[in-house]
Amino acid sequence: MSSTAAQAAGALAAPATGTIPRHVAIIMDGNGRWAKKRFLPRFAGHKAGVEAVRRVTREARAIGIEALTLYAFSSENWRRPEEEVSDLMGLLRHFIRSDLDELVRENVRLRVIGDYRRFAPDVVEMIDDAVARTGGNDGPILAIALNYGAQAELAAAARRCAAKLPPDRIDEAAIEAELQTRDLPPLDLLIRTSGEQRLSNFLLWQAAYAELLFVDTLWPDFDEAALREAVAAFGGRQRRYGGL
Ligand code: IPE
Ligand code: IPE
Ligand code: MG
Repeated sequence: MSSTAAQAAGALAAPATGTIPRHVAIIMDGNGRWAKKRFLPRFAGHKAGVEAVRRVTREARAIGIEALTLYAFSSENWRRPEEEVSDLMGLLRHFIRSDLDELVRENVRLRVIGDYRRFAPDVVEMIDDAVARTGGNDGPILAIALNYGAQAELAAAARRCAAKLPPDRIDEAAIEAELQTRDLPPLDLLIRTSGEQRLSNFLLWQAAYAELLFVDTLWPDFDEAALREAVAAFGGRQRRYGGL
């Protein structure tokens, strides 16, 4: 579906009142607990989590969300056992192999935020190739946060500003222009699944005036209806930005 067709489909299917968020970000949490509940290894939860990614990215396109940013691996997730980190890398390879053609075809622009160059060389190469293959597209953006940490992102932005500008010219706009999300629309809605209510070093700057939504659903159970509910909840929020 082209992005205009996706937007038209979204306009029909979206709630009658309320606005559609332009940029939605999701902290996809709860894979491990989902598996535990089923007496399965954590890997099974991550695998089911990939299915949820597939469902939700498709639905986001159908709704007409312009940018979807997914927190897939934080800069702190290296603290997990080596085997789990390696399982997650395996699933990332698998996802790129199995889903890239669809993203290219669906006019999706794939982006990566985070220091993914710390990953194994073959993964880095796959990511660079995947991003390049969607480079000619002009539809919705799918940004995946890989080895991402907001504090590191901000420190890097500060360093780049300091190298370019005198201190009195480093303002909010200058910092924003150095963030990895600089090409994305402003963050409207930030969702975290699994009942945890924290940001875990995700999009700290960008979340300044985002609407926050914490849902109890574990990520592998998050589906099309859950995304629509989140969008409807967003539509019912009144954003004030400090005004009245
Ligand atoms: C989120 O699920 C996936 C990643 C962090 C990669 P978790 O693995 O954190 O699941 P829980 O929090 O242990 O349930
Ligand atoms: C946040 O989830 C990171 C991702 C979803 C990729 P975590 O499960 O790592 O967060 P904490 O450790 O509970 O804060
Ligand atoms: Mg977790």
